[in-house]
Amino acid sequence: MAQLNINGRSQQVDVEPDTPLLWVLREQVGLTGTKYGCGVAQCGACSVHINGEVRRSCSITVGSVTPRDRIVTIEGLSPDSSHPVQKAWLALDVPQCGYCQSGQIMAAAALLTKKPKPTDGDIDEAMTNICRCGTYQRIRAAIHMAAGTARGGGSIIHMGGGPGQPVTPAGDGSMSGPAEVH
Ligand code: FES
Ligand code: FES
Repeated sequence: MAQLNINGRSQQVDVEPDTPLLWVLREQVGLTGTKYGCGVAQCGACSVHINGEVRRSCSITVGSVTPRDRIVTIEGLSPDSSHPVQKAWLALDVPQCGYCQSGQIMAAAALLTKKPKPTDGDIDEAMTNICRCGTYQRIRAAIHMAAGTARGGGSIIHMGGGPGQPVTPAGDGSMSGPAEVH
């Protein structure tokens, strides 16, 4: 049995201490926005925040997380997909298949908390998540948009989806591309 603070709620889960946090989030708690990619801390699809730091939940055991640790998943990043990173992702239509994007968004949000005005170098250093679809250029542009450091552009904070750009957040809080992935 473990007690976890997930997206501001305290939850008890009946699992062995060596169970990866990713499986608890997906299987026990039902938060399927966090994805399984490699399972060995390489791809970043499983990224969540723990106490504000981006962490790869496939490689963290439940037993190593205390009830006081604040776990935030893509579903808890904002109540209505209004985080500046989420808005920028929608505005620039970043996702392709979408599978990696929850992790990308969590990594980008953590980066902007630490470095609100990141350079390209800061982004390249922080964003080590893998995207099989190669959306890296749009990810970089969206981070600059969210930060207000896009060339000639202001901050995304005051932008909506814009005319002709339907806002279609997936039910799990992640951004959906052409294909829904669960
Ligand atoms: S699934 Fe965790 S890093 Fe790939
Ligand atoms: S793997 Fe990144 S959008 Fe498809």
